Amino acid sequence: MLDWLLGIHRDHPQSAFHVGGPVASDIASLTFWMVAVFGAVFLIVMLLLVFALVRKRVPHGLSESASVGMIVVGGLITPTVVLLGFMIYAFFIELELPTSRSTVEIEVTGHMWWWDVRYPEHDLTTANEIIIPVGEPIRLKIRSADVIHSFWVPNLHGKMDLKPDRTNIFTLRADKPGIYRGQCAEYCGTQHALMAFQVVAMERSRYDGWIRERARPHAEPIDPVLARGKQVFFEAACNNCHAIKGTAAVGRIGPDLTHIGSRLTLGAAAIPNSRAHLSGWISNPQAIKPGNKMPASYLKSEDLHALVLYMLSLE
Ligand code: CUA
Repeated sequence: MLDWLLGIHRDHPQSAFHVGGPVASDIASLTFWMVAVFGAVFLIVMLLLVFALVRKRVPHGLSESASVGMIVVGGLITPTVVLLGFMIYAFFIELELPTSRSTVEIEVTGHMWWWDVRYPEHDLTTANEIIIPVGEPIRLKIRSADVIHSFWVPNLHGKMDLKPDRTNIFTLRADKPGIYRGQCAEYCGTQHALMAFQVVAMERSRYDGWIRERARPHAEPIDPVLARGKQVFFEAACNNCHAIKGTAAVGRIGPDLTHIGSRLTLGAAAIPNSRAHLSGWISNPQAIKPGNKMPASYLKSEDLHALVLYMLSLE
């Protein structure tokens, strides 16, 4: 599924050096120049040190004016020029895109330990996956439902905190189609490491198609197994925590499951989304992601089977 998207970023889904957008590109070039210039400074200092160690001792040392000259040039003027240069460079690069011209607005709310993703314009909610059109500035409004998290997609942008008491707004742009992995970058508890997500950048026409497909309400399942699956969802009280649009399930504690069938991963990119993984997750999520809020379920195997098939039918 979505193999067509796995282009040049297949091998570098989370790398600040394989840039997919303008901000990441500027951060990468700043990093390159810093490593190059500071590497050169380090090399020069080491060479001077070796020179000082191996040269013959001068009877009365350097003259006072020569010593003072070395300190002024090497210890004062050079670092000032180099650091000032980098400061000016950093002021002029694009660490933020202008927020005014964005075409899509997406609200991301961080939870311990997953991401709620909303497209307010389309009344569409998903989780742990941000689908965007390529080449367009996307306005992201991010906040947290609990502790401080940090939104970081190294291929596309620098970090931005999600806070419980305020909304941070920034603009993201991906210039190449692909799947970019993002990661919470602020320690937020036991499963901070498994609080990941994916930004899926696709051509505008595909993006519009994706939105259109998600906008269609789910039909009542006719297939008896799927109908049973839906029944199991309510019998097992999944609806206490999860919502499925168009049904009586309106729980807000866990991720919205209206489109879970079309998602690439489960448990905030902890495991791929497949029948086997979803069965394992529903049976015992604590084995996969200890500490998360979802309890184990003790379903009969045919009920679990029906529930999994129903979930995966929700695209
Ligand atoms: Cu959320 Cu670390």
